[in-house]
Amino acid sequence: MKEACGVQEKAAVRDHMTKKPTKNDSKSSSGSERAHADKGSARTVKLSVQDIFGFPSNLQVEGFAERTEFVPEIDEAYHFDPETTLAILAGFNHDRRVLIQGFHGTGKSSHIEQVAARLNWPLIRINLDGHVSRIDLIGKDAIVLEEGKQVTKFREGFLPWAMIHGAAVVFDEYDAGRPDVMFVIQRLMESNGKLTLTDQNRVIHPHPAFRLFATANTIGLGDASGLYHGTNPVNQGQMDRWNIVVKLNYLPAAEEEKIVLKKAPSMDNKNGRVQVRSMVALAALTREGFAAGDISTVMSPRTVMSWADNYQIFGDMEKSFRMTFMNKCDEAEYPVIAEYYQRCFGTAMPELPKPAAGGRI
Ligand SMILES: Nc1ncnc2c1ncn2[C@@H]1O[C@H](COP(=O)(O)OP(=O)(O)OP(=O)(O)O)[C@@H](O)[C@H]1O
Ligand SMILES: [Mg+2]
Repeated sequence: MKEACGVQEKAAVRDHMTKKPTKNDSKSSSGSERAHADKGSARTVKLSVQDIFGFPSNLQVEGFAERTEFVPEIDEAYHFDPETTLAILAGFNHDRRVLIQGFHGTGKSSHIEQVAARLNWPLIRINLDGHVSRIDLIGKDAIVLEEGKQVTKFREGFLPWAMIHGAAVVFDEYDAGRPDVMFVIQRLMESNGKLTLTDQNRVIHPHPAFRLFATANTIGLGDASGLYHGTNPVNQGQMDRWNIVVKLNYLPAAEEEKIVLKKAPSMDNKNGRVQVRSMVALAALTREGFAAGDISTVMSPRTVMSWADNYQIFGDMEKSFRMTFMNKCDEAEYPVIAEYYQRCFGTAMPELPKPAAGGRI
């Protein structure tokens, strides 16, 4: 569930941030600073939504002609849900702040990433886990070597860097952000998107291609489900500043099957399609069972994909089910889960309760 600004990505951003400024990076040492990097100089192109996202639409959107090192890799197997994709496109094309909320593993973060990948839009993901601090976001004074001498220089954090260079920022696990970090974001969302670095006497104006997105499992009102430990209620003043909020929960079964088959192409045959249908049906039973209070673990679309991957490795449906999902569940719930398995696959796992003498379970 927690995958975002990984060590490599962080290192790449940092390397980039420590490069000497080019003439495109406007950096005055004080006062108001306007990032006039390059939506102007970067060539933009019109793209057909239908052609690049694969669902019917007459819309055209703007993207960049060239890829840069911060544009995410394209996942060819990605399947776009029209409603979510259009909301994200409004974020990119109309500079709307978009928050996507939903259960874990439903494709919130990857959806934004894959839209950016198709638009050639640079994007960085920042996972607001307990280790991301205000200093990571804003920056700090650091001692650097310049012409053999040690000098103190301000090293920008992720946020000023993205604002100056025109990248989209995705705050993942937004509802788990530390208070100091949340107030930096609030500051950014307040005054026309400008960021004031109080200790630097600088105001950073956002580049025209700077965008803000966030993903969260809860909607900022705390976690009533018990699934999302570590999340916090979000300041309602801040929630109010997201222009578009979309929910991305479980897709209809047929859509989920398509996604799994795209990710596990070796199952895309007659027999495999039947198996994937049963896998998705079982996932749906766990979701219903969770909603009814029968079990306490739900199978996310991510887990279904990982089950299909493990099946491709082990060639054994029950074993890969056990390794991917069942071993994460409470043992007291094994009989219920074994029953779901039997209903979908017709095979009895050893955990299935034995029928009583009268023939009934
Ligand atoms: N529509 C889709 N098409 C293809 N792959 C998908 C799709 N949705 C999700 N996935 C895959 O499922 C996995 C989980 O997606 P992702 O990390 O985006 O979920 P998330 O909703 O952000 O989860 P979390 O709340 O745990 O952060 C990823 O490997 C992603 O590539
Ligand atoms: Mg995510």
